[in-house]
Amino acid sequence: MDAMLDKVVTVLARPNMALVKYWGKRRLGEDCGDPKLNLPLNSSFSITLDAGHELFTKTSIVFSERFERDTFYLDGKLQDMDNPELSERFLTIEKIRELAGVKTKALIVSVNYFPTASGLASSASGLAALVFAAAKALDVKTSQEKLSEIARIGSGSACRSMFGGFVVWERGRSPDGTDSVARQAFGEDYWRDLSVMVCMTSQKKKKISSRAGMKQTVATSELYRLRPEIAERRVIEIQRAVKDKDFDAMAEIIMADTMNMHATMLDTRPPIMYLNDISKDIIYAIEGLNEEKGRKACAYTFDAGPHACIICRKDDEKDVMNRLKGIDGVERCIKARIGAGPEILQESDSLIDVDTLLPKKHKEAR
Ligand code: ADE
Repeated sequence: MDAMLDKVVTVLARPNMALVKYWGKRRLGEDCGDPKLNLPLNSSFSITLDAGHELFTKTSIVFSERFERDTFYLDGKLQDMDNPELSERFLTIEKIRELAGVKTKALIVSVNYFPTASGLASSASGLAALVFAAAKALDVKTSQEKLSEIARIGSGSACRSMFGGFVVWERGRSPDGTDSVARQAFGEDYWRDLSVMVCMTSQKKKKISSRAGMKQTVATSELYRLRPEIAERRVIEIQRAVKDKDFDAMAEIIMADTMNMHATMLDTRPPIMYLNDISKDIIYAIEGLNEEKGRKACAYTFDAGPHACIICRKDDEKDVMNRLKGIDGVERCIKARIGAGPEILQESDSLIDVDTLLPKKHKEAR
């Protein structure tokens, strides 16, 4: 094992956008031995997003006997490891240490390259980068599925960022979560003709976190009782649509599924509303464009927030962009394509000085 210590590894990981949504965890006893395992009530399906110079996480890690404790810098700031949310996320590092059979402490330096206050989640790319980098630094030989299981413990949907392309997160049945893992359904090169746009509509901080929101929905929404079965069926249907490159079928599933999830949010007591008036204008604009074309030119999807993610064929990109530009309140659209899973970067990209094992003073940190 010693040979692997003091090795600095730097990883880039990307966020994912669910096309069939995850909203709701299993509670203790519902095929669930521990709510901390983040076991979902339904399978979900996503694409990994590559927006080039933004929307990604870069993380450097090194394990060394020189360290007395774990140290974590995020976006240039030293983090308090006693913060309960953070210590939960760092259970993932414990799992990697267990697999490697070491107790050695780590220095972790991470930067999220996400637009400031975008409200776009960096937790998926953050946890995927952390788990992948830790496994590589300790030379853990295990499957990507196993790493996705560990990333899931840090943040549910992070498991899907462990792969590129089109990804399924299987619900699983085991109370210990060993079968609730992600796998790649189709690679990032399978359907090159697709284009993705992330349209930001608001800078406001959301009133309720996803974690608290989904808990409240599962506890109070009657409508939600229908949700797991509907989502499970759609995960199967969307894989068929992607396999056949049937854009119309895929678009219909994506739009129906996001609205179904948001309906269960509205049905929550007290109600949860993540969409704003601009989100609604985007929905109407896209429904209108599809109606005019007599086919599905594009599809919208909204996570637990007001930002839209729009998917279209490359040929329709201009028309879709023009339609979105006409909407008051659409602040910025980031163009993306379907991207790869976590990648190891070169030593020159490291956020840690390999000689001193100290964080580099990097200009990029926000
Ligand atoms: N949560 C959000 N961003 C993160 C990152 N870059 N690393 C670990 N956890 C995170």
